[in-house]
Amino acid sequence: MTLITFDENKQIFHLSNASISYLIGIEKEAYLSHLYFGKAIKTYHDGRKYPAINRSFSPNPDGIPLKTRDFSLDTILQEMPSYGHGDFRNPAVQIKQVNGSSITEFVYDSYEIIFGKPELDGLPATYVEDKKEAETLVITLVDKLLGLKLKLSYTIYANRDVIARNALLENNGVVPVVIEKLASLSVDLPAQDLELISLPGRHIKEREIERQPIQRGTRIIDSKRGTSSHQANPFIALVAPKTDELTGIAIGLTLVYSGNHEMLIEQDQFSQTRVMAGINPFGFEWELGSNACFQSPEALLVYSDQGINGMSQTFHDLLQTRLARGRYRQAERPILINNWEATYFDFDADKIKSIVDSAADLGIELFVLDDGWFGKRDEDISGLGDWIENTEKLKDGLQGIADYVHQKNMSFGLWFEPEMVNADSDLFREHPDYALQTPGRGMSTSRDQYVLDFSRQEVRAEITKQMRAILDTIDIDYIKWDMNRHLTEVHSSTAGAAHQGEIFHRYVLGLYEMLEELTTEYDHILWEGCSGGGGRFDAGFLHYMPQSWTSDNTDAIERLDIQYGTSLLYPISSMGAHVSSVPNHQTYRETGLEIRGDVAMSGIFGYELNLQDMSQTEKTVVLEQVAFYKIHRKLLQYGKFYRLLSPFESNQTAWIFVNDDQSQAIGFYFRKYAESAGPLRVIKFTGLAPDKTYQVNDDAIYGGDELMSIGLYIYPFLEGDYQSRKFVINEVK
Ligand code: GLA
Repeated sequence: MTLITFDENKQIFHLSNASISYLIGIEKEAYLSHLYFGKAIKTYHDGRKYPAINRSFSPNPDGIPLKTRDFSLDTILQEMPSYGHGDFRNPAVQIKQVNGSSITEFVYDSYEIIFGKPELDGLPATYVEDKKEAETLVITLVDKLLGLKLKLSYTIYANRDVIARNALLENNGVVPVVIEKLASLSVDLPAQDLELISLPGRHIKEREIERQPIQRGTRIIDSKRGTSSHQANPFIALVAPKTDELTGIAIGLTLVYSGNHEMLIEQDQFSQTRVMAGINPFGFEWELGSNACFQSPEALLVYSDQGINGMSQTFHDLLQTRLARGRYRQAERPILINNWEATYFDFDADKIKSIVDSAADLGIELFVLDDGWFGKRDEDISGLGDWIENTEKLKDGLQGIADYVHQKNMSFGLWFEPEMVNADSDLFREHPDYALQTPGRGMSTSRDQYVLDFSRQEVRAEITKQMRAILDTIDIDYIKWDMNRHLTEVHSSTAGAAHQGEIFHRYVLGLYEMLEELTTEYDHILWEGCSGGGGRFDAGFLHYMPQSWTSDNTDAIERLDIQYGTSLLYPISSMGAHVSSVPNHQTYRETGLEIRGDVAMSGIFGYELNLQDMSQTEKTVVLEQVAFYKIHRKLLQYGKFYRLLSPFESNQTAWIFVNDDQSQAIGFYFRKYAESAGPLRVIKFTGLAPDKTYQVNDDAIYGGDELMSIGLYIYPFLEGDYQSRKFVINEVK
């Protein structure tokens, strides 16, 4: 199947598979224009040719004949706009030159079509397992004056509704330039009513869904925190005003990057919308020497005409199977118990062993020893940077605990926070310059800790060495990689003045290099990302670690919002979710064990509480939950996920997991607050086969069409606040 063609006569590139098309034109033999992204077009007949139109105050580029005022870069729809030749909108690329100018003019030079999808040097990206899966178009633009080549890559998969893009800048000139901005992707859409969906948040309240009309002007969703952040996930979607979960058009965009990002949406004077994603130009400057090149992160653009849920499913499958890697990518994940909320720093070997005992009795499969096992770490003011087991707390050391856990037929996991250091640590006393700091200025603390300068190889090497010493001697099956503050006073002691603007990005590159090394070398380990909960829940991290702790907020009711919002982009197989104790430690809310279990098993299931303190009745419930999850986890972790009712819109939340051949499904219904003499609520399912017959909860029989169109009453009534109900739906033949 040919996925990419070039029409020499019309000068048009057409990337297309059975369901989507992406069209790029070359205007005036020079400028790359965006023509179309959407449902597949068999043959393009110039329907989107930009009309020649004279607009006042929109300049015409040099070389246009006298009185020909109908072509301006300010009005046409472009692919990778620069600033300075008449386009007054936000540029995708800005390059400072020795003469002080930042004006560039990238014009079309050549193209190449490659089978498959090349890797990105030093950066995470989606991939193919077989070259037949995708084709990649590389368009080269040149700035002749500067000797710069800008290579834009566009990958289209044969069977996915996504275009993966990145940009590579090569300096073939004789003098260095400074990159001030290089977006990974820019697309201009014609005038239309659009709404913007984004996922803002904060610590313990990540990824809330916001939806608002796009109006004229520029809207920026970005992070200047050094990481992708709790505050602004690198994701946006543009949707038609009537688009809902299952119908209408949705275009989703994410950046495969874990550092400072910028997602920019600009509606221009003619109501055309420019969308851009890339490294945040704020605080960024990269000196590009002669013969050097700079690779942008990858951006993923998804098209759905089956609503927001259709967009999510394309992302889920792509991120799960062609971004995440390693042996756990599609393997069933273990049910874990983590000691953090059970003990915090207050534990010793006996306490840990008693947690392990109770967990083993209940069928839990993995024990994770969280913060506090190393250095001098009895509270969170010391010890980070000294990854040496604390044998005062753990009398037989880590191996003693590991052996104990393994004897119980469970796996053993360990917490690390490799990027951080406390002032009160041997590492900081010996190497204070290893922490990011600006000469002559004070160092801000956050959780009383500093950030190690991971842009420096020797700093990473020191931490890698310490981690290796543990990983090579102790039998470890799982690691939680945490990061509990954001970057301040960003300045590297060993980089020269001209390179300080590179440090934010070099930090991320250094981190990726270390993650690549460790996750490849220790590929038997299940790695889980974390950053004070879900502060680095991004596609970049997912390339190295197939799951992430979704939020430090373990309250079941708050988790409905958090997991629902997270599912807009990220697959269920990536979302850690634990049952914790009540009153909940973040919200002080009391909820029943059943709803806590139902919410947590809608993610990668685990527990984080003192199992030993549970009553026998509670333990019976846990036994049932664990048994249920083991039977159904393949479906719950890897089934198709449909959102049915949004916690952001009402008191009710519902979702359903459906297997590939639609023979099995599990639906969950949640109600936050009791409704006095309330209406009889109905749940309608999605994703089932209309002509199949199903049995629900081993009881009544219904057609798939009935379950989807008529639905079921939530009956018997739910009583009280914070209630949930499960629907196990099996095909009967
Ligand atoms: C972060 C994590 C928690 C826990 C603590 C330990 O907040 O998100 O799950 O590991 O650190 O300090």
